[in-house]
Amino acid sequence: MQSKNYLITNIGELFGILGQEVKQLKGKEQSHINTLKNAYLLVENGLISDFGPMSECPAYSGEIKDLSAQWLLPGFVDSHTHMVFAGPRHNEYVMRLQGKTYADIAAEGGGILNSAKRLQGMSEDELYQRTFDYAQAAIKSGTCALEIKSGYGLSVEAELKMLRVIKRLKTSLPIAVKATFLGAHAFPAEYKNNHEAYIRQIVDEMLPVIAKEGLADFIDVFCDEGFYSTEETDYILKAAAAYGLQPKIHGNELGITGGVQVAVANQSLSVDHLEHIGEAEIECLKASETMPVALPGSSFFLKIPYTPGRRIIDSGLPLAIASDFNPGSSPCSNLWFIWSLACLYNGLLPEEGFNALTINAAKAMGLETSLGSITKGKRACFIVTRAFEHINEMPYWFTQNHAVEVLV
Ligand code: NIG
Ligand code: FE
Repeated sequence: MQSKNYLITNIGELFGILGQEVKQLKGKEQSHINTLKNAYLLVENGLISDFGPMSECPAYSGEIKDLSAQWLLPGFVDSHTHMVFAGPRHNEYVMRLQGKTYADIAAEGGGILNSAKRLQGMSEDELYQRTFDYAQAAIKSGTCALEIKSGYGLSVEAELKMLRVIKRLKTSLPIAVKATFLGAHAFPAEYKNNHEAYIRQIVDEMLPVIAKEGLADFIDVFCDEGFYSTEETDYILKAAAAYGLQPKIHGNELGITGGVQVAVANQSLSVDHLEHIGEAEIECLKASETMPVALPGSSFFLKIPYTPGRRIIDSGLPLAIASDFNPGSSPCSNLWFIWSLACLYNGLLPEEGFNALTINAAKAMGLETSLGSITKGKRACFIVTRAFEHINEMPYWFTQNHAVEVLV
């Protein structure tokens, strides 16, 4: 952890400089990165208070961090994770290697229900310790803000337990954390044929406690084939809106199911996955403030189609990318690898991937005024890397953690 006041000198190149008025980068703008070579940056009270060329570096009597020409980037923002879980699902990984699909396993009671069974039996303290360790690993690779979802509880008690773990992490981790209530991640087996009864639990028993204890910032629903219908999703989102919870939706992962439209109609901050989208979905997003988010880690791990990122950006939209870190579809929190996947398979240029992981990701979790760029007044959290020939090299060297140091 870094102190609250310090001066960084001899930055080889400073990346991601934006004015405070920039909330996102879309279409052609997304391929542009403002940089400054041979720079200094001053941090006061944990915020960026000034930066500029070394020739104008002020005299400073406090702590100085000399980067000796290394590079400085704004910390990455991971706007979509399921970081609270009770253990890995390596058995299902092997079942898939032997030919079963993710959907087959879910239909047999595995998948999310498997994670829920294990989590229901684990103490809050153990769950907290596991998640804290996963978060530390993510921070080491440059993650400086995390959205974390519930959704492996699927009972009143277990969903609240997950959200209480996230609440503890908000104070124990040195980075920004936002909590998303995803009670509507799957239907518990006993409610398979009685969706209404489980939705009643979400609305009548979970939401009021969550609101009273301030346990969530956002509401999510897995709106997709075999999971929640658009009508069910709309009903839950409207109930959550009454408690001031803005949506972030899982949609269009398994098919074109209306997830985008229901997200936009409910002023969703983001709609995530989008492996299956058509022209109607793109037009709908264009008429909205909702951030499309691609999750290439889950496409890679499940061997399902990739979100057409190139098409989304070429249509003039912004795009964010996130890890989707979870035990079933994306056991990877390393955003450098997600960046490589986004270039290779979502069709992004390296610069577009950088903006997808910083300013656009910050917008996807409502943090665009405090994180996601080098801007005066924003929170000081940075990644130090070696000096490369070009920023293209960051996603080129795939699977490498390029963070020499993470300043949070
Ligand atoms: O984003 N698609 C829904 N939820 C998670 C996966 C959940 C799981 O398999 O445990 C996702 O991919
Ligand atoms: Fe997810």
